Amino acid sequence: AFVPKSVGEVRKMFTIAHRGASGYAPENTIMAFDKAVDMKADYIEIDVQRSKDGKLVIIHDTKVNRTTNGEGYVKDLTYAELQNLDAGSWMGDEFDGAKIPSFEEVLDRYLGKIGILIEIKAPKLYPGIEEDMAKILKGYHLDKVKNEEIIIQSFHFESMKKMKRLLPYVPIGVLISKKENATVEAVKDFSSYADYYNPSYAILTEDLVRTAKAEGMKVLSWTVRSPETAEYLLGHNIDAIATDYPDYVMLEK
Ligand code: G3P
Ligand code: CA
Repeated sequence: AFVPKSVGEVRKMFTIAHRGASGYAPENTIMAFDKAVDMKADYIEIDVQRSKDGKLVIIHDTKVNRTTNGEGYVKDLTYAELQNLDAGSWMGDEFDGAKIPSFEEVLDRYLGKIGILIEIKAPKLYPGIEEDMAKILKGYHLDKVKNEEIIIQSFHFESMKKMKRLLPYVPIGVLISKKENATVEAVKDFSSYADYYNPSYAILTEDLVRTAKAEGMKVLSWTVRSPETAEYLLGHNIDAIATDYPDYVMLEK
């Protein structure tokens, strides 16, 4: 088995199971999230979208085609229709029967067990999804104290500014994949509302890490899909790593 040279525990990095332990079980399903808990990841990452009838659901693509036996946009299907889809067999017969979870189902099952990194996917397709999410999180009393039980992130910066206004005590992250958002000026701007600066490993540099940290942000990088990428990210002074394979970036806890 792969054993990383750097030790996550010593460097106090935390491990995020990306879409759950999605290297081992179908992404964004209870099977993948349970696997992440079993593997002792610190967080699960979930992608949140909204059904036609307004239910927040966990799925990555804006269409159901790749990861289910259905077709069409998530936003055009009701929660009942989404529930009827098989979200597991695409990865192998042994995963037959996995469902698209709702946001509340994930909160109910995992809060207190493992951290939850919540990504708002394609917020432009879902006007008001920030308010919907804030309302749900308030129902779980997750708005009151500053804690790291949950973190909310997105590639869509206006959505994250709004989320910070709605839930000032919840840590907010900006997902970064473009170099234009990896300048000192850009980082300073993000730090006015974001607590986490989350660049793809492809644009990560130590300079960038230093800049983000100097502005008071934590740094989370993504996505490990090979031992080489794990090794690369473990060599940086970052706070968290998102990985499809939790065992690539951590030693036994
Ligand atoms: O956590 C980072 C990552 O989830 C962003 O990319 O496409 O896998 O949602 P994606
Ligand atoms: Ca994601």
